[in-house]
Amino acid sequence: MNKLRNYQNASNNIKQFYKTNRSKQTLQYIQSMILKYCSSFSTKMHIWKIAEHLNKLVDISDPDLTLPNIIHAFQSAEYAKECGEPDWMIFTCFIHDFGKIIYLFEDHENGISSKEQWGIVGDTFIIGTELPDQLIYPEFNYLNPDKDLRLYEDGCGIDKCFVSFGHDEYLWRVLQNIDHKLPDEALYIIRYHSLYALHKEEQYVDLMNDYDRKMLPYLKRFNKYDLYSKCDKEYNLDNMKKYYINLAKKFGCEYMNVL
Ligand SMILES: [Fe+2]
Ligand SMILES: [Fe+2]
Repeated sequence: MNKLRNYQNASNNIKQFYKTNRSKQTLQYIQSMILKYCSSFSTKMHIWKIAEHLNKLVDISDPDLTLPNIIHAFQSAEYAKECGEPDWMIFTCFIHDFGKIIYLFEDHENGISSKEQWGIVGDTFIIGTELPDQLIYPEFNYLNPDKDLRLYEDGCGIDKCFVSFGHDEYLWRVLQNIDHKLPDEALYIIRYHSLYALHKEEQYVDLMNDYDRKMLPYLKRFNKYDLYSKCDKEYNLDNMKKYYINLAKKFGCEYMNVL
């Protein structure tokens, strides 16, 4: 298997993406995006419709993925299934990136569009505290205006922190608004799966509380399916449809209010 997440040879576009992301994701930006896009979700959409929309989006921050997102959703979920994971984990793998649907707002100025994705994708980081050297392209850390704020107390818990805005936070907020039956572990995975500094680089330890320490192993377990399922395999959408819609029904997620 080729080395994944290799940013050494990544295209200049990816580097430029991270430069913009690091400099524009500020406390004020996150708060305004939550207010603007997460206050009311008024479009009721079938899970399959969300999946079809994702099929039109390719994540520009990902050096390993050139396939549409829906294929990545199947690859992750099918790998989790092969490994004998329970249904909730398989379904979490399937939907973990569905927050990327936010691209439909086509808000270029705020990085929320298929062209400008710096408010949707990429690794996330915590705003209002020192930026770890373990972030991708740490040479851009100095560009973040809020890095010296020291906003948080030790042990406050990751959910008290402002994490850079993107598809993780968006889907987590979508799910707060529907009567789903997913366990807490699934929600934690959805909200923090792009926070590689936390689950891969062991950073932010001082900010964690007991709940984070309980949830972290699930996030690490999930990451295997997110990352190591990437391959050139493609799927017939019609064959997959029935199985995943049934899973969505089981977890009360057949319809979600998005956008
Ligand atoms: Fe993701
Ligand atoms: Fe993913």
